[in-house]
Parts: sequence; structure tokens; C-alpha cells
Amino acid sequence: EAQTIPVTVQPGDPKVVISKHIYGHFAEHLGRCIYDGFWVDEKLNVPKQGRIRMDIVEALRKIKVPNLRWPGGCFADTYHWRDGVGPVAQRPKMLNMWWGNNLEDNSFGTHEFLELCKLLNTEPYLAANVGSGTVQEMAGWMEYLNSNDDTPLVLERRKNGHPEPYGVSWWGIGNESWGCGGNMTAEYYTDVYKRYATFAHNYPASPPLKKIVSGANGDDAHWTETCMKNIPLNQMWGLTLHQYTLPTGSWTGSKGKATGFDEQQYFNTLRNCLKMDAVVTKHAAIMDKYDKDKKVALLVDEWGVWTDVEPGTNPGHLYQQNTLRDALVAGTTLNIFNNHADRVRGANLAQAVNVLQALVLTDKERMLLTPTYHVFDLYQVHQDAQLLPLQFTSPDYVLNGEKLPALNASASRDKAGAVHISLVNLDTKKSQKLETALPGVSWKTVSGRILTSGNVADHNTFDKPNNVKLAAFNGARKRGDKLSVEVPPQSVLVLEVK
Ligand code: AHR
Repeated sequence: EAQTIPVTVQPGDPKVVISKHIYGHFAEHLGRCIYDGFWVDEKLNVPKQGRIRMDIVEALRKIKVPNLRWPGGCFADTYHWRDGVGPVAQRPKMLNMWWGNNLEDNSFGTHEFLELCKLLNTEPYLAANVGSGTVQEMAGWMEYLNSNDDTPLVLERRKNGHPEPYGVSWWGIGNESWGCGGNMTAEYYTDVYKRYATFAHNYPASPPLKKIVSGANGDDAHWTETCMKNIPLNQMWGLTLHQYTLPTGSWTGSKGKATGFDEQQYFNTLRNCLKMDAVVTKHAAIMDKYDKDKKVALLVDEWGVWTDVEPGTNPGHLYQQNTLRDALVAGTTLNIFNNHADRVRGANLAQAVNVLQALVLTDKERMLLTPTYHVFDLYQVHQDAQLLPLQFTSPDYVLNGEKLPALNASASRDKAGAVHISLVNLDTKKSQKLETALPGVSWKTVSGRILTSGNVADHNTFDKPNNVKLAAFNGARKRGDKLSVEVPPQSVLVLEVK
């Protein structure tokens, strides 16, 4: 018989709000994310607006995508925006040297991306080319998009079909500048950053820029320290962090299977995923030293499970299946971000369509929603809601003599006063019985939705797209003023209390 775990939902600080931008996504020119993903052949028999695939847009609108990062990733530091504007037939072709050397025709460029963002009702988050571009090129892109004065670039934008300024305010200055973005040292990059940021102008016709520093890989504390030390706080709105979950934990050799893995590999994957808490805590503590008022946002603008590619697919295209395990990783990671809402004010899952831990997979006309998609559906209730910190001690999930915390959770109160608690039980066999106190919350009813399946390796296929899906959950009860619930094994559960 399982022990009952006492949980307290604390009142929290009304100023600490879970930014909706934690639920952001990422669309790189990589494999079939843009080409043959969001942007399809004119002849493909699916609902389209222009060449934008509308069944994907419709699915993503349902989960409220707050921002979309583009065009990379590593690709961003090879991308020259002028190649992707103007009459499509005249756009030069380019080699996507990072990702499989594909020849791209640049038919998806700035206007097409911003049209996609409009359809998704999402904030565009552009990454400027620092590694192989120039200050002038980036500054010109900003002027082209945000100014409304009669300069040659603005006249060109109008001629290209957009009379009004676009008002793009989120700008990443480079990407992984320590690696594919130029192999720079932190000291060198911070000087380069300041130079670029100096010429990143605000235009009266558009909202002020949110300038974002290309940040560290999870284990690189020195990079974060150097950025915070060398860049004045008023020259940066955000600083990024990249942290992926590899099932084997190794970038060399096999990263681990996307499907058909055993419980040990599942366990190892979750252990690696749970490191996110320590990684965020470490980088946030460095930021606190230089920015005690927490003005600068920490943006984990690349995260997710990275496995070996599906057998038979191009290794440079990073196409992988997506299982219940990955949904448990997503639920756990988003709980971590929510609980760090005072500093983590943005994040982007890598990536939205057909790449890495995708929300949507496509095969010609067919499309499926992954288990990870359903977690974003469940968790959208936390967007811009006040964080309610939770107090509890997790029982262990034990496998072959090793242990992990079986239970993780986060909670928030939305503007209408409803409280949402997202609970993830990582144990594959044991359910978790909770008795939850909500001091100061007056409530009458509790309802819920759950994502679970018989095996953590279960996934959706084009033939069985609803193999892993959401279901209503009726197992939570009000007992006196306490909430009592038994969280099933290997599940992500979101309760609504009001
Ligand atoms: O998301 C795939 C790649 O991972 C990105 O292009 C790069 O920034 C990171 O290394």
C-alpha cells in the first residue's frame, strides 16, 4: 500500500508569473521542419495558405504558441536574409551546410516566416547572423522590418508586399557562438555582442528591441559569468541557455533509441532530463550575482530529447519518433521551468515539426500529433498565470539499485482564479497518492486531464495516430478542504481546482 504524500500549495508571490514564453517553439531550416514541414510543395494535397500547411497551423493554434524562433540554430549563422526576400523566382539557391547539405531555394524567407507567425498568432523570435554575417546586414534586417521612414530598405519592403512595419522585437544576436556560431571564446563574443547591439536600433514605428545574448551550453558556467560581467545590463534583455536530454548522455556514438528502448534507458533519459533543475539553478545563481533584481531573462531557447534518427532517414535531418517517455520529459522540464519562473522567462523546445522532440510529424499528406504535443496542450493553462510554489517530498522511483524522484509538479493560479496543478509520475509501476492542502484557496470542484499509456515507449504512428492521447481524469476528490488524488504510473496529469 503506497504512502500518502502530503503536498501544500503555497500562496506564492503575486509578482512571480509563469511567462507564457516558457511555452515557446523553434523552427530551424533543418531537415523537414520548414521545407516539407511548415512549407510544402504547391501540389501536396493538404489545406494550405500559399504554401503554408494549415493542418499544422490549426494544431499549433490550439496549444497557443507564444513565440517561434527562426531561422536557427546553427543555420542562423549561415543565413543571409536578403537571399530570402523579393520575387521567389529570383532568389538564389543555397546549400544548407549544417544539415545534410540540402539545396534550398529560399522560397521560405522573412515575409513567409512572418506570415506563418501571423497565422499562428505568435511572437516572431529572429536569430541574427553573427558568425558569418556583418553588423550592417543585421542592422539592415532590423530597418527593413521595423522602420517606416522612406529609406531604400523600407521602400523595398513595401515593394515586396508589406507596407506596414512588422515590428519584430525579439532578436537573438548569434546562436551557440561558442560552437557552430563561430567557435568564439566568451571574452571575444561579449565584445562582438556589444558591437552588434550598438547598431541594433529601435524605430519609433515598432516596439523596442529585446536584445538576446547567445548564451551557454548547460555545463559552461564561464560563458554565463563572462556575459554577465562584460555586457552592461541595459544592453541585454535576455541571455540564453541550451540544454538537451540525451538518453545515453553522450554526444559521441549512439545517443539512444527513439522507440523500442528498455526501462533502463528510460530511467537514464529521465535522470538526464532532471539535470535541468541543477543547470538552471547554477546559471540563475551566476546571473543573480550581477543582476540581483532579475531584470535579465534567462531563455532556455533550445531543449528537448535528442536521440538517434529514425533508421533509414538522413542523419543530418534529425528526424526522430516521439514516445510517452518524451512526454514525461516535457512535463518534467516544463515543471522545472515553471518553478524557476522568477528567472526563466522563455524557452523553446527543439523543434516544432519533424525535427528532434517534435510536436508534429508529417509523412506526405499525413500528419500526427506526438505525445509531447499533448503535454503542451495540458500545460497551456500555466501561461501567464501566477506561480504557486509546492511543498512536498517525492518518493523514489527505484530501478536496479538506482533511484530518481518519482514525482515532480508545479502549480499556478490563472487570472480567473482557477488553480492548476501539473503532476508527473515517472515511476513505471507505482501510483502516487497525494493529499494536498491549498491554504487560502476557496474551491468547490476539481477536474483533470491525463496523458498515459501502457508502455513508456508507446507512440503515435501514421497508421495509429491516436495511440497515445489525452483522456479525462476523474480520480481526484475533495475531502474536507483537502484535495486527494492518486496519480497513475508513467503519467502527466493536470488538475483544475476552482
Ligand atoms: O536544434 C538543433 C541544433 O542544436 C541547433 O541548430 C543548434 O543551435 C544546436 O546545437
